[in-house]
Amino acid sequence: MNLLLKGGMVIDPITNRDEKLDILIENSLIKKIAPNIAKTLQNVSLKIIDVSRYIVVPGLIDVHTHLRDPGEPEKETIFSGSEAAAEGGFTTIVCQPNTIPKIDTPQKVKEIIKHIKKYSSINIYPSACITKNHCDVVDVKAIKTAGAISLTDDGDPIIRDDLMEEALRQAKKYDILVSSHSELSPWSVEAIRKLSLHSTDWKNMLPTKDYNQEVFFVRRDIKLAKKTGARIHISHISMEESIIEVARAKREGVQVTCEATPHHLLLDSTARELYGTNAKVNPPLRNPYDVSALKDALRDGTVDIIASDHAPHSPKSKQWDKASFGIIGLETTLGLILTHLVTPGIITLQDAIAKMTINPSRIFNLKAGKLSIGMPANITIIDLEKEWQVDVNKFKSKSRNSPFHNWKLRGKAVATIV
Ligand code: DOR
Ligand code: ZN
Repeated sequence: MNLLLKGGMVIDPITNRDEKLDILIENSLIKKIAPNIAKTLQNVSLKIIDVSRYIVVPGLIDVHTHLRDPGEPEKETIFSGSEAAAEGGFTTIVCQPNTIPKIDTPQKVKEIIKHIKKYSSINIYPSACITKNHCDVVDVKAIKTAGAISLTDDGDPIIRDDLMEEALRQAKKYDILVSSHSELSPWSVEAIRKLSLHSTDWKNMLPTKDYNQEVFFVRRDIKLAKKTGARIHISHISMEESIIEVARAKREGVQVTCEATPHHLLLDSTARELYGTNAKVNPPLRNPYDVSALKDALRDGTVDIIASDHAPHSPKSKQWDKASFGIIGLETTLGLILTHLVTPGIITLQDAIAKMTINPSRIFNLKAGKLSIGMPANITIIDLEKEWQVDVNKFKSKSRNSPFHNWKLRGKAVATIV
């Protein structure tokens, strides 16, 4: 089908474009971006959509999504996750490998890509594990060739320095991004202790109650990135101390990038009282001064990407003290960012869009994130005026674990074109 998006305010950070334009889509590709295209087209049959009340941006990208597929279809599947992503304005996501089983072999990467082709309504790129059960680095060359877009042991840190160093050497050699989950909970220590038979110095790093080991891993991974020449991406950064480390390393030319989630940007540790286990997440919600530092870092460019860390859990797994960690975010991220960061002037609309389009695309090396002639038409249409109330019961996601239930927001994706 041919489509003409008429008169929208087109915002495309890579070109600094911010003006009213038409976009012509032919055979799923962007054919033309210009004012008043319709007048020059006479006999072509096409569907015209008036988007003059909306902004039109490159399809949003989320580089941190947990889909629970394979293994826990009651929480999320590739299909339900892709529907939730589309509802939230995301045309492209990177799914995390901590599924059951974990995605730690080329064969498993190929299988998940097969399932994505079959069940997803959007573009999903799989990330693969860095290690096999914290004991060995995966076969990086083969796993990249199979189609993994990046490497992460998300959910756990890489405790052993030697494993992280080896992973970064391989990643440098085969040009693939490594993401670091820089946080250590008592639970992960136990799990890793059991698995990591020839562990070296993790015994000295038992976590405190505050889970404040983030900066320890951030420092170490920056040091190893420097040593190996590899790129390192810090997932869900959350503390002032680690932001200072990332900013310093960037100034020194280390290839380090980082992402922040809406929940770490908007909630602090008091949220646990208000929202119970729906505010239980790793890294945990931090102190108000960390939240404030994170907002500053978003504005000054230390934080490159806004990512949801969509982490679906069932009501049963969110019960009481033993509740699992995680917050879902695909359907709330855009509205939260627009309402609580763009409207109050903490970041500009252009910058917010850049952190959800061209920045993730560049860092994760994706064919997405900009509106170029000849490229697949991945486009998000946003109504900045739309007022709505978050209702988890209406989510396309199979899960409901959000602290943002009932929040009143302004701004929503009204169409997601893939
Ligand atoms: O809260 C979290 N949940 N943090 C993570 O890093 C992993 C995620 C999950 O998989 O549930
Ligand atoms: Zn994580």
